Amino acid sequence: MNDAVDIPVLRARRLRREYGTGEGLVRAVDDVDLDVGAGETVAVMGPSGCGKSTLLHLLGGLDRPSGGEVWLNGGRVDGIGEKSLARLRRTDIGFVFQAFHLMEELTAVENVELPALLAGRSPRAARRRAERLLERVGLADRARFLPSALSGGQRQRVAVARALVNEPSLVLADEPTGNLDSAATLEVLQLFDSLHGAGHTMVIVTHDARIAATADRLITMRDGVFVDETRLTGGTSGRLGAFAGLED
Ligand SMILES: Nc1ncnc2c1ncn2[C@@H]1O[C@H](COP(=O)(O)OP(=O)(O)OP(=O)(O)O)[C@@H](O)[C@H]1O
Ligand SMILES: [Mg+2]
Repeated sequence: MNDAVDIPVLRARRLRREYGTGEGLVRAVDDVDLDVGAGETVAVMGPSGCGKSTLLHLLGGLDRPSGGEVWLNGGRVDGIGEKSLARLRRTDIGFVFQAFHLMEELTAVENVELPALLAGRSPRAARRRAERLLERVGLADRARFLPSALSGGQRQRVAVARALVNEPSLVLADEPTGNLDSAATLEVLQLFDSLHGAGHTMVIVTHDARIAATADRLITMRDGVFVDETRLTGGTSGRLGAFAGLED
């Protein structure tokens, strides 16, 4: 038996985040337990305000919990210092946001390589890896474009490439198709599907049932708690064809 294989990439225990006090107290995340194994994709759905973004921020070290624990690759991270946490966010976690959050004055390839440079890679190595990732997301010919010259779907694919540049053990995505039209949604859907197929470990918050359907597990959240958890068949590429057929 090898214990290492049993350690989840991500583990949360009795995770809590409260805002306000007294009458105004909001339990945005209320005693949540979660394990995400290596290579697993978990989708989180639920109504607006139920705590999905708050949860993702806690899991990714963008916010500190009011209580409970977060473990990444077997190490507890909820209480570590700011510097260590920043390093962890940079190297071990890839974030994808609804609004892309690209640097508008940097080209696509500069956006992708930036976290690699910040992590201490040589400019040549960072550039090479950024170019390879842009190729992987189908944007090799757009590497020198500014975000303003890219479509929404292309911008989000740049953001996904950026999220992967330091080979994070965990990818967290908060409504990655929330700002996209249906054609661009399909592009990004297919990209996440291919990441899943390639064995990335991901937690994806989404309102889009098509994205959720490509996950291994679907968690439904309401008022800060998990109210349902469904193990899906984990079927990915096969089903996307059918979804593509449903477009328009
Ligand atoms: N900084 C904050 N201060 C006070 N309350 C907050 C803060 N951030 C979030 N909340 C509250 O916490 C709850 C959960 O918010 P959160 O943004 O996590 O929801 P969500 O599920 O991501 O919603 P949406 O689908 O609209 O993005 C909400 O009631 C929200 O008003
Ligand atoms: Mg949200």
